[in-house]
Amino acid sequence: MTTTCFSRPAFTSRVVPVIVLADPAHAVPLAHALLEGGIDVMEITLRSDAALVAIEAVAKAVPQMHLGAGTVTRVAEVQRVIDAGATFALSPGCSDALVEAVQTAQLPFIPGVMTPGEVMQRREQGFRLMKLFPAQQAGGLGMLKALGAPIPDVQFCPTGGVSPENLRDFLALPNVTMAGGSWLTPADALQQGDWARITRLAREAVALSLLG
Ligand code: 3PG
Repeated sequence: MTTTCFSRPAFTSRVVPVIVLADPAHAVPLAHALLEGGIDVMEITLRSDAALVAIEAVAKAVPQMHLGAGTVTRVAEVQRVIDAGATFALSPGCSDALVEAVQTAQLPFIPGVMTPGEVMQRREQGFRLMKLFPAQQAGGLGMLKALGAPIPDVQFCPTGGVSPENLRDFLALPNVTMAGGSWLTPADALQQGDWARITRLAREAVALSLLG
C-alpha cells in the first residue's frame, strides 16, 4: 500500500501553532507575523467557519508558509482542505477511513494517537510521525518516554497542554520532532490585530526550541 505520510516534515520550525480563527481576514497578517518570528508552519484548525477561507487566503498570499489543516476528523474534509490549499493535515485522532482518504488523495497526514495500540496500528499503515493528543492528559513527558522504549521508530508531535514552560522538556525527548499548541496565537491578540505580540511569542518559542 502506498503511504503518503511523512516521517520528516518539510518545514523547519519545531513549534507548530494550533490556530482557531474567528475571522478569515486575520489569516494572512497572522502568517506574516509568524514568519517574522521564525515560524514557517501553521495548523489552521477546522474548528471555525473561517478555516477553509483562511487556508485558501494563506495558500495564495503566503506560499512560503507550510500550511497544515488541523482537526481533520471526517473523510469528506480531506478533499476540502486540499482544494483550499493545505499541503498536509493533522487530526486529534484517526480512523482507518481517514487513512484511506488521505492515502487516496496523496495528502501528507499526521494522525492523532493516545495509546500504544493506536501507535502500533498507525505504524502498520506506514506512519512514522504522529500527534500525541491530548499530550498532557495522555501522560505528557512520562508517556512519551514510555512509548519510546518499545516503539523507538515513531516520532511524535505532542499537542495539548504544551506551553513555554514545558516546551524545552518535550523537544529534548529523542522521539519528539516538534510540538504544537495554541499559546502562540491567543484569541485576544488575533481579535486586536496585535501581530507584534504574536511575532514576539513566536520568537520566544523558537528560542526555546533551539535550546531543547
Ligand atoms: C489542539 O487542538 O491540538 C489542542 O487543543 C491545542 O492544545 P492547547 O490549547 O493546550 O495548546
